[in-house]
Amino acid sequence: PLVVIAGPPAAGKGTQCEKIKAKYGYVHISTGDILRENVKNGTELGKKAEGFMKAGALVPSELIVDLVKDRLGQDDVKEKGCLLDGFPRAPDQAQAMVDAGLKVEKFLLIDVPDEELVVRGCGRRLDPETGEIYHLKFKPPPAEVVDRLVHRSDDQEEAIRNRLKIYRDQVNGIVPFFKDVVSEIDGTGKPDDVFGLVGASLDALK
Ligand code: AP5
Ligand code: ZN
Repeated sequence: PLVVIAGPPAAGKGTQCEKIKAKYGYVHISTGDILRENVKNGTELGKKAEGFMKAGALVPSELIVDLVKDRLGQDDVKEKGCLLDGFPRAPDQAQAMVDAGLKVEKFLLIDVPDEELVVRGCGRRLDPETGEIYHLKFKPPPAEVVDRLVHRSDDQEEAIRNRLKIYRDQVNGIVPFFKDVVSEIDGTGKPDDVFGLVGASLDALK
């Protein structure tokens, strides 16, 4: 199936995707991860996207839509199903999915109050070697990985608040496209509690 996972910045999308991938075997496609990889490698796409990302703004849709459509057409996605994280995040991207005939079977919409999101974002650290997502307080990294952890350039309070504002502005224009398959998930609990809610929603798909 094609499952979309949406929600504000630092709501726990990536954290839940790791758990979903482990249990259901879906391929995780995160547009944010793809863009960060391109920035790191200095590709043309990365050079175009970098400034937008650092400020917490959306990159222009034309930079990302074809890339996602291509990725969704690959064999592993067709075999295993797909978990699309961070896309669509503007109405034109949702429309592009409809136009391409991409049928979303579940739209998981995780929400968490704004002030909690700022705390989650500011304390996030990533392990570039394993891809593991940590939080200084909520999921403390083991001592042996601390030296290599990365603090995302958009995980500064100002950029987080900007991302949050954009998210709240866009989401109401996106959800109507998927209204028949939306599951609203309360993301305030512990990661395993949230996964209980996510799992109940995905199990109903089978
Ligand atoms: P993207 O990477 O998609 O960022 P985002 O949507 O802002 O979401 P995050 O990755 O910040 O958060 P998350 O929900 O995955 O949370 P996580 O699990 O890490 O996009 C980044 C940028 O790329 C955009 O701003 C834009 O510029 C660009 N972009 C991407 N896609 C685009 C598109 N389609 N169009 C245009 N531009 C695009 O968790 C966060 C923290 O909280 C972690 O520290 C974690 O340990 C902790 N945590 C998680 N769950 C819990 C919990 N239940 N309790 C306590 N702590 C928790
Ligand atoms: Zn993420």
